[in-house]
Amino acid sequence: MHVACIMDGNGRWAGRRGLPRTDGHTEGEENLARLVRVAVTRDIGWLTVFGFSTENWVRPRAEVRHILGLHHRLFGRLDELNELNVRVQWIGRPFDDPQARTPKYIQRAIRRAIADTAQNTGMLLTVAFDYGARQELIDAVRRVRGDGLDVTPAAIAEHLYLPELPPVDVLVRTSGELRVSNFLLWQSAGAAIHFTDTTWPDFDGAELDAALALVT
Ligand code: IPE
Ligand code: IPE
Ligand code: MG
Repeated sequence: MHVACIMDGNGRWAGRRGLPRTDGHTEGEENLARLVRVAVTRDIGWLTVFGFSTENWVRPRAEVRHILGLHHRLFGRLDELNELNVRVQWIGRPFDDPQARTPKYIQRAIRRAIADTAQNTGMLLTVAFDYGARQELIDAVRRVRGDGLDVTPAAIAEHLYLPELPPVDVLVRTSGELRVSNFLLWQSAGAAIHFTDTTWPDFDGAELDAALALVT
């Protein structure tokens, strides 16, 4: 079972409480850690979450800096992830792409998280950072052509950023946005969609079970 979450609504969560948006992001990161703890007790082999998009760089500098710090924290939760037998992956614009924007200290945290959890055999947690699905597809087509292959569905699937990622079974979008995002567009063809008004920091095990109920 592959569950993919568009973790939206951190800003609104904070706004409703009269808090700065950054507090919403902090709570959102903590909620992801809580949700991973729940997810490993369900029949979920792959959990993929949208942490930061290629479009999100235009946000105010201070907000971006805060979100970067939270990803550093997230990829640094190695004791927790190892205790849960969770393997970490990352999906996004390759670091050597001229347009890639992931700062060096996040790159290091990502590389370390992948290496230090590589031996785990449980759930695969993939974090999308500096990720955009359209760019992924453009890159895939370029790679296919670069390899001198015909552009076929199978060839594209094999040239995505993470070809081993299985199709998405359930796509979750929080905070009442009834629309898709620039997230896993190829991988989520045919996926069930769980839309919920709950903002990401409040997305809990009961919400996860509601999403899973769509496909089990
Ligand atoms: C999602 O929450 C987190 C990121 C996109 C990084 P938002 O920051 O988009 O929260 P809203 O949509 O403004 O409530
Ligand atoms: C989606 O949230 C991206 C992430 C959760 C990282 P946004 O708030 O950026 O999404 P759009 O642009 O409204 O679709
Ligand atoms: Mg949003």
